[in-house]
Amino acid sequence: MPRSIQGLAAGLEWTTFRALLPDLREKRVLDLGCGFGWHCRYAQEHGARVVVGIDLSEKMLERARTTTYQPEIEYHRCAIEDIDFAADQFDIVISSLALHYVEPFDRVCRKVHHCLTPNGAFVFSVEHPIFTALPAQSWYHGPAGQRLHWPLDNYQEEGPRQTNWLTDNVIKYHRTVATYVNTVIDSGFRMTRLEEPKPDPEITDPDVLDQSRRPTFLVIASIREQNANR
Ligand SMILES: C[S@@+](CC[C@H](N)C(=O)[O-])C[C@H]1O[C@@H](n2cnc3c(N)ncnc32)[C@H](O)[C@@H]1O
Repeated sequence: MPRSIQGLAAGLEWTTFRALLPDLREKRVLDLGCGFGWHCRYAQEHGARVVVGIDLSEKMLERARTTTYQPEIEYHRCAIEDIDFAADQFDIVISSLALHYVEPFDRVCRKVHHCLTPNGAFVFSVEHPIFTALPAQSWYHGPAGQRLHWPLDNYQEEGPRQTNWLTDNVIKYHRTVATYVNTVIDSGFRMTRLEEPKPDPEITDPDVLDQSRRPTFLVIASIREQNANR
């Protein structure tokens, strides 16, 4: 994946995601599903005081550790759904393209709420529900191989989708946009922004331009309500 080699700039959603991040200076940041640690290093380089990245994959973490020289960043092997941090331990929780791999999204939101300080920020991106509805995750092609349209079906049927993404039998969890939004709100957050990033206007690569024919990513920014008691 370009992201694996070139880092954050190679991600179509990064410009949008970055714009939704609050000021990182002196903040304690948790990154759920940190992968190679790109966002952790970005947070530290932009002034975060403490950065914790968690991921299920020891291989991803190994690579994150070897490419990280900053002592402020800690990586832990842990499933996102199993996090167990102290109340108010973080000022900002981020997650980039990982939460669609997690089944109990409501439980994760409640745990994020618990470990965030009041007025703390929760910013995350996922594959867009229009993208995850069908397991094939592929264009509908015409006889000459041209991309005719992006098929959408079973949108309201939430649950696992067995996909072949980079490797066979990857399970992603499809949820509707309404479920993402309402779960965040019901968990005690005030949503401040919902974005569906588009390719930058200067892009000429037709493969990338096709990403504007349907949303690929959903990015949600929210603030932990000050007085919510959950
Ligand atoms: C598409 S990668 C994104 C990595 C990184 N956030 C980024 O944007 O560069 C998804 C990451 O989520 C991790 N992941 C998937 N399911 C997970 C789970 N249940 N708990 C923790 N990490 C998980 C994977 O190991 C992988 O590193």
